[in-house]
Amino acid sequence: MLKVALIGCGRISKKHVACLQAIEQTQLCAVCDIVEQRARDCADALDIPYYTDYHEMLRQEKPDLVHVLTPSGLHGAHVLDIADYGCHILVEKPMALTLEDADSMIEACDRAGTKLFVVKQNRYNLAVQQLKRALDAGRFGKLVLGTVRVRWCRRQDYYDQDAWRGTWAMDGGVLTTQASHHIDLLEWCMGEVESVFARTTTRLVDIEVEDTGVAMLQFTSGALGIIEATTATRPEDLEGSISVLGEKGSVEIGGFAVNEIKTWNFADKNEQDEEIRTDNNQMPPDVYGFGHRLFIENVVQSIQSKTSGLVHGLEGRKSLELINAIYESVETGREVPLKFRARKCRLGR
Ligand SMILES: NC(=O)c1ccc[n+]([C@@H]2O[C@H](COP(=O)([O-])OP(=O)(O)OC[C@H]3O[C@@H](n4cnc5c(N)ncnc54)[C@H](O)[C@@H]3O)[C@@H](O)[C@H]2O)c1
Repeated sequence: MLKVALIGCGRISKKHVACLQAIEQTQLCAVCDIVEQRARDCADALDIPYYTDYHEMLRQEKPDLVHVLTPSGLHGAHVLDIADYGCHILVEKPMALTLEDADSMIEACDRAGTKLFVVKQNRYNLAVQQLKRALDAGRFGKLVLGTVRVRWCRRQDYYDQDAWRGTWAMDGGVLTTQASHHIDLLEWCMGEVESVFARTTTRLVDIEVEDTGVAMLQFTSGALGIIEATTATRPEDLEGSISVLGEKGSVEIGGFAVNEIKTWNFADKNEQDEEIRTDNNQMPPDVYGFGHRLFIENVVQSIQSKTSGLVHGLEGRKSLELINAIYESVETGREVPLKFRARKCRLGR
């Protein structure tokens, strides 16, 4: 049985609590929030202790695994602190906002001999799993074009509910917060990115960061990619989608949360294609989808079997690197290469 503790009892914590209650190999032992009422409400419902200081919780409870569900800009500092206690760590997306933080988090967990996982639950959507299987089986042939679209609706009241939302220091814009899932899916499906050119704008809300952005990608394979993301869709969420086009096939997964196969069309058809197209559509109650439970089960299995998890720290870092390059492109007005950057390395110095 894995003892699990949560840090941050805000919006996404409810999803984590529900998943942990459903997973037999985990036992939620304590929760922590600096807002006492939030920690108490969460703990009372579960009949477990609560804390307002996570150092105190980690000392007292000695959890095996800690879920970090705090504002994105705090993930780096929190993971560094927790790693000192020798716990495995699951951190919500985005793993951090800067690559320096991401690298320190990965290094700290490596040093402590513990595992770091970054939540990317959309990889577990049934439709996405089928797409990935088709890609791994080579059914697309040469890849041509990958596109993700996030057309969601977040009004001023969404950004105003907490001071950290919509800020550069703690959150990032639609590309970092909402579209980081879709950017992760695009790289997972299409492979390494060579370079990116991007533009952003803020159209319908008063925030520091962008509510709308587009990016054009060059993949190392020679294929191209498009990211289109906005939280300025009105009057409601319209789409969260990915499409992959290759020389031998086209797949489009749409719906509002990458949850429905719209097109499943291969030149070399097989017997299961019609079933795959019709039997992998899900209707989640919210944009978070159903993937958290499968994601956490993968984390538990990875810890128990001492094998790599699906989205470990380095894997989670990839989309953050691309997001950082997107913002660099916006700020410089230039196409930004992702590779061949100076690395923190003593070789030759
Ligand atoms: N995977 C997903 O689909 C998904 C969905 C929503 C949010 N998220 C991510 O989850 C994270 C949290 O988002 P949210 O919407 O739940 O935010 P939230 O503001 O509702 O909750 C964050 C909580 O962390 C608490 N907190 C802050 N500092 C703390 C500290 N030092 N110790 C203990 N608690 C502290 C806050 O008081 C707050 O209750 C963000 O990184 C966000 O991007 C992921």
